[in-house]
Amino acid sequence: MTLTAERIRAALAPRAVWYYEQVGSTNDFALDWLRDGAAAGSVVVADEQLQGRGRMGRTWRTPPGVALAVSVILRPPPDTLSQVSMLGALAIADLCEKVGLHDVGIKWPNDVQVAGRKVSGVLPEAIWDGERLLGVVLGMGVNVRVDFTGTELAETATSIEIELGRPLDRTELLAFLLKRVDYWVEQLGTPAVYDAWKGGLTSVGQWLVVGQHEGRAEGVDDQGALLVRTSTGVLKRIMAGDVMLGQ
Ligand code: BTN
Repeated sequence: MTLTAERIRAALAPRAVWYYEQVGSTNDFALDWLRDGAAAGSVVVADEQLQGRGRMGRTWRTPPGVALAVSVILRPPPDTLSQVSMLGALAIADLCEKVGLHDVGIKWPNDVQVAGRKVSGVLPEAIWDGERLLGVVLGMGVNVRVDFTGTELAETATSIEIELGRPLDRTELLAFLLKRVDYWVEQLGTPAVYDAWKGGLTSVGQWLVVGQHEGRAEGVDDQGALLVRTSTGVLKRIMAGDVMLGQ
């Protein structure tokens, strides 16, 4: 079913929502709205992104009719900032489980995978006024029925409908996703977010390569860093990067 402003507004009421058929990036619209004073919980949704942004300066594909591209405005306490990226992954993992998917896990730091393939990405972006945190835009992209066949992502990415084998209604998915975001936002600052995120991580215990480092992932810390013991025995604390499985 197509996304329409009317259906989305009805499903997400009373939340403030901007819906666009096509945007550059929902995060960019949400960042502007945040600066203009949008209330916490306000949401920007688009059917298609032309310049969707991913982690580490990459682009993120959101073709029309096949995905969710959503950016939620949050105004969290600054000392909970590291948990915002975790809660995005948790809300998407909850969504995957809710629709009946099995083998759902979080690849460090915040990729939700189904059967080892990425179904979503999370991009939190904070705005500061000097030392004061104005707010955070939590961008989430979910592959609902994106077909990666024949692309360079064919082996590593998938879509929830394809894994499930039945059609889903993107408006219903969006409404549930935002309910779970609200739930986890309520838990910010408690151990619940970190504990659930840590519990969902599949990367710990594995031998992997992250940027220039290679070693065994021994764990994570409560700031979301990955702790990797290299082959020379040194423990590296990695704050950002892409994890690839090593030998
Ligand atoms: C990643 O690289 O894994 C993160 C991808 C985040 C994509 C989402 S889609 C909605 C929001 N708008 C953007 O431009 N990016 C995020």
